[in-house]
Amino acid sequence: MSQKSRYSLRLTVLLLGAFFSLSLLAGRSQGAVKSNQLFIDAGHEVATINKNIYGSFAEHLGGCIYGGFWVGEDSPIPNTRGIRNDVVGALKKLNLPVLRWPGGCFADMYHWRDGIGPRDSRPQRVNRHWGQVIESNAFGTHEFMDLCEQLGTDPYLAGNVGSGTPQEMYDWVEYLTYPGESQLARLRAANGHPEPWKVPFWGVGNETWGCGGNMTPEYYADLYRRYATYLPGYGGNRIFRIASGASDFNYHWTEVLMQKAARYMDGLSLHYYTVTGNWSHKGSAVDFNRDDWFTTLRKALRMDEIVTRHSTVMDQYDPEKRVALIVDEWGTWYDAMPGTNPAFLRQQNTLRDALVAGSTLNIFNHHADRVRMANIAQIVNVLQAMILTDGDQMIVTPTYYVFDMYKVHQDARLLASRLHSSDYTNGDESIPMVNASASRDANGKIHVSLCNLDPVNTAEVTCAIHGFQARKVTGQVLTADKMNAHNDFESPDAIQPQTFRDTKIQSDGFTANVPPKSVVVLELSQ
Ligand code: AHR
Repeated sequence: MSQKSRYSLRLTVLLLGAFFSLSLLAGRSQGAVKSNQLFIDAGHEVATINKNIYGSFAEHLGGCIYGGFWVGEDSPIPNTRGIRNDVVGALKKLNLPVLRWPGGCFADMYHWRDGIGPRDSRPQRVNRHWGQVIESNAFGTHEFMDLCEQLGTDPYLAGNVGSGTPQEMYDWVEYLTYPGESQLARLRAANGHPEPWKVPFWGVGNETWGCGGNMTPEYYADLYRRYATYLPGYGGNRIFRIASGASDFNYHWTEVLMQKAARYMDGLSLHYYTVTGNWSHKGSAVDFNRDDWFTTLRKALRMDEIVTRHSTVMDQYDPEKRVALIVDEWGTWYDAMPGTNPAFLRQQNTLRDALVAGSTLNIFNHHADRVRMANIAQIVNVLQAMILTDGDQMIVTPTYYVFDMYKVHQDARLLASRLHSSDYTNGDESIPMVNASASRDANGKIHVSLCNLDPVNTAEVTCAIHGFQARKVTGQVLTADKMNAHNDFESPDAIQPQTFRDTKIQSDGFTANVPPKSVVVLELSQ
């Protein structure tokens, strides 16, 4: 072969290579751009988005308390009075408004006196629900209240109805909050805390239809009235009383509770978990395909229907919406991480979970008139966690970043909005491609949170805003190339929010090209 032909062969190979690389690149972003219209009425504030919608939940389960928060004062892991500094530091950035404790199912077998006094004389119990491991009770009332103080968060205690008594619950309230000279207040002082604490939220049992006692709604409604009678507000500490509510689609439970006990409660709870498969085979948190992605998001979006229908039942008995719907357990639940104790419910957390979190929080924002608290399950190392720890290491998850990006909605005013979304179709099923919510904060800035659930197509969102002339728009986006992008201890920063620039101010609002499989939060100022 002549020098010239060798040269032209090399050139052809190079050009072909470039052509194939370009087509591959194009293939990755091959999706279409689909149009979506959003209308925001800045003149119509619907309700305040209660900051407590951005709450969380910590249970004595797997690595949530022990290892997740509590390492003990003698641990080489940097801590303040036994509580890990790295975890508290990361969570403080979220402005976490409220934290529910000690369960979950654990709450109805927890006896608070086990968790006070000198740690070396606290009893060892069996954690019957979660792996039958030994509960040392090293983390009890004082440690939890210290954690809340370190986080700057309000405590929400779940009292034991299933295996406790009204007396035990009543005593716990007195121990925590009584400002005078009672025996229990003196015991609190002897244990290191003379000042009474404020405990704004109190749950009367958990899942009393299941692990909390397998009760009928009629029986529990009576029991609720009895226990709620003995939840006094001492020294100006008013207790917001929350009844143990329904799971998923059990509207009958809500109906009976509202009919028989609404006037004794301030809140009624609701639990809904997103399970991709079924309870026996829930599916992997990380190894999933496009069908699983779609199914997970389709099921997560059912939160809107569930909240709407429970609220409608509540409306019949409480049209003024005095009783809040408290979604105190929600999130994704997959098969446990391979190689871990299945009873510890440890799972990875990917971009898919970020889309579940962003969409669910948009749903709660829209229901801000009735949903006034929600607690993602759970905060550290369990289910849809914000944080994962391993020994002295800690990483934050995509879900953590969604809570960080969405914190601008806390206590902001929900603005009326309407969205015409394109479809995201998978096989013969479709869900809306985009969901969104908008609020105005105390400084007059508008925040719009947008989720594009479609893993392939870009969502062009054309937004018209009535009554607000936006002059500047900034934003953040959380996305990645892969659907299952996640952080782990080898690559702790594999996925994190980036500055979002693909947006333009228009005379009546803005346009934004929201990438496939992404969560975007925009800030609009005048
Ligand atoms: O969050 C895990 C468990 O799920 C809780 O303990 C229980 O309330 C629910 O069934």
